[in-house]
Amino acid sequence: MSNIIVAPSILSADFANLERDINIIKLAGADWVHVDVMDGHFVPNITIGAPVVKALRKITDMTLDVHLMIEHPQNYIEDFASAGADYITVHYEACKENIAEVIQLIKSFNVKVGLSVKPKTNIEEIGTLIKELDLVLIMSVEPGFGGQSFINDSLDKISFIKSLAVEQNLNDLIIEVDGGINNHTGKLCVDAGANALVAGSYVYCAVDIKSAISSLKFSR
Ligand code: DX5
Ligand code: ZN
Repeated sequence: MSNIIVAPSILSADFANLERDINIIKLAGADWVHVDVMDGHFVPNITIGAPVVKALRKITDMTLDVHLMIEHPQNYIEDFASAGADYITVHYEACKENIAEVIQLIKSFNVKVGLSVKPKTNIEEIGTLIKELDLVLIMSVEPGFGGQSFINDSLDKISFIKSLAVEQNLNDLIIEVDGGINNHTGKLCVDAGANALVAGSYVYCAVDIKSAISSLKFSR
């Protein structure tokens, strides 16, 4: 049995058929649903907001892993928590000045808390925060769009977080990677210490979605 969490990103699903496309990945063995929220400011693209998360909550019992690529995330945490998000991940770059407060705010709604870093951010900056977190999300592409190529430097970031987690006995910390994940890059990430893989185009553009998801369930 693999203990790798596979979280397909619905960014690559058909937005007119989200219920169908979520049921497809559930039946195909996915663990979580990764929901990419973009505001057109933090990233140069706009996707969906809390009303869509609320609608998804009604049609699935899968874990909703909400990735906020938005400015001023603190203003929207309550909306996403009430909408039914299980994990809310904010970007360090979007709230580094008040990061401790944002982490506490997410926790106050009994939602699991994640922190993400963009590829050009120095990973060491979040080192002292990881003990407060349920999840660290390493971006392995510049956030904003699906279908980009994996940035290899992300592997060092994963190893860095993994070594801190081991040092600090943070056995439950989820180390998730997002962007350009396929069965080759996914394996490299797992070998470096990741235990959750987000994949958009690799899963949703696959001819056989079940095989694509199975191919990410590496054993560690
Ligand atoms: C990118 C998003 C990703 C994206 C991944 O900004 O955060 O979740 O959907 O897509 P792929 O797997 O196609 O790189
Ligand atoms: Zn994402």
